[in-house]
Amino acid sequence: MSTDVRAICAIGLRGQLGLHGRMPWEGERGRVFREDVARFFEITRGHVLLAGPRTIASVPEFARQDRTVAVIRSSERPEEVLARYAGRVVFIGGGPAVWEVYAPHIRHWDINRLPYDGDADRWFDPQWLVKGGAARGRP
Ligand SMILES: NC(=O)c1ccc[n+]([C@@H]2O[C@H](COP(=O)([O-])OP(=O)(O)OC[C@H]3O[C@@H](n4cnc5c(N)ncnc54)[C@H](OP(=O)(O)O)[C@@H]3O)[C@@H](O)[C@H]2O)c1
Repeated sequence: MSTDVRAICAIGLRGQLGLHGRMPWEGERGRVFREDVARFFEITRGHVLLAGPRTIASVPEFARQDRTVAVIRSSERPEEVLARYAGRVVFIGGGPAVWEVYAPHIRHWDINRLPYDGDADRWFDPQWLVKGGAARGRP
């Protein structure tokens, strides 16, 4: 049984992903920002959320009750990590170094583009979307 590997992220208008260990737009009260957070928890509910240590540290306790949340490390092989969750829907939740390596395995990207155009120190790379490999059966 294979693993259904997906990615979920929110980006700013130029691909901003993170700033000082948080979402760059953290604290924004607008409806689209609040809806993005609610949607993240709704879509990942009941499934597996895998991400690097800094991203997983920001997952609130309540969200760990109704989904499988696990840290992944650079010392682990993606194929072995994903095989642990055969038959499940697995969301790869970042950060950039993680998406860089897991991109070839990702079949479905859920990207919400938010109306933010400020600073960032973590960026989305559109090249992740077309990385050949495992998910597409390309050589
Ligand atoms: N906008 C969004 O949707 C979104 C989503 C996620 C994160 N973010 C933002 O991004 C920032 C956090 O991301 P981050 O990159 O700083 O830290 P991170 O979440 O800890 O992710 C990067 C770390 O993942 C680990 N890792 C696990 N598997 C890996 C692999 N196969 N190859 C390479 N590294 C791997 C590495 O740590 P080790 O070498 O120690 O294992 C690496 O340093 C925050 O600002 C956060 O808000 C934004």
